[in-house]
Amino acid sequence: MTDINASRTLEHLKQAYTREIQANMRYQFAARLADAAARPDIAHVLRAAADEERGHALGFLDLLVEHGARAPEIVSESLAENLTASIETELHEFSALYTRYAEVAAQEDLPEIARWFLALAEAGQTHARWLQQCLDGLERKP
Ligand SMILES: [Fe+2]
Repeated sequence: MTDINASRTLEHLKQAYTREIQANMRYQFAARLADAAARPDIAHVLRAAADEERGHALGFLDLLVEHGARAPEIVSESLAENLTASIETELHEFSALYTRYAEVAAQEDLPEIARWFLALAEAGQTHARWLQQCLDGLERKP
């Protein structure tokens, strides 16, 4: 069998995963619009589609793991590795990066957006703490 890490398919899996997640969120957002338009019939279809897209995204993660893809920034086989990579992401991407994004937004006189970035940077710190506690607990267990 082809080494997934030497394949073009690896990049396709990553891209498709991102597209499925984006579709999931777009449908959830559109469902809120349908709610606001008093169209529960449309909201119901959109939420059903969103659920399926989430399932598709998880399917791509399963395939990445099953085929031994080296993509720790997305997913890895072990719980501990997933927790470790998630802590890194929360601290460096969500917390550090969003703090910088907030500064730029403030400089560009977009204060509401700056506040949102700052709030999520703080949430990143909190999530990193939670995940670290999970990782510590995992390692303590006999
Ligand atoms: Fe899909």
